[in-house]
Amino acid sequence: VSSTELNQRYQDTYKALVSICEGEIDEIALMSTIVCELHNSIPGFDWTGFYRVTSFEQLKVGPYQGGHGCLSIPFSRGVCGRAASTKKTQLVRDVNTLPYHIACSSSTQSEIVVPVFDKQGEVRAVLDVDSNQLANFSSTDQKWLEKIVMLLTPCYDRVFQP
Ligand code: SME
Repeated sequence: VSSTELNQRYQDTYKALVSICEGEIDEIALMSTIVCELHNSIPGFDWTGFYRVTSFEQLKVGPYQGGHGCLSIPFSRGVCGRAASTKKTQLVRDVNTLPYHIACSSSTQSEIVVPVFDKQGEVRAVLDVDSNQLANFSSTDQKWLEKIVMLLTPCYDRVFQP
């Protein structure tokens, strides 16, 4: 799709997400919904999912859509680890050129990984999107995905109260 159309799809998806997610503060409910909407609305998303920081410098998979991914990724490994450790979005045009890329599926050619922050600026998760097409992601994807993951911020100031 053209970049104008891509932008429009993101805008529609963002609007839908804002309305579906209104008032929700459960991390898994929000993450599943974000992954579902993105995976089904934006073309070229072949694996779409979160890795959550579950212990010191460790990421665990889920929720996601697509084939199974690595279950655990330390901050020291993979594009996901790099996004988490540097706190910066990683936009990879060709994963085959990166020695530290973790190939969970041989069909993946390009990817984008966006860190998710809490209000203190700590990384709580990363959003990983993999595509079977080379150079599938651009600054348009980066701009929108960084905006979309901010929908998760309200989860992280929740006091546990069963
Ligand atoms: N994109 C990843 C790993 C792929 S997944 O397990 C879906 C990385 O190198 O961080």
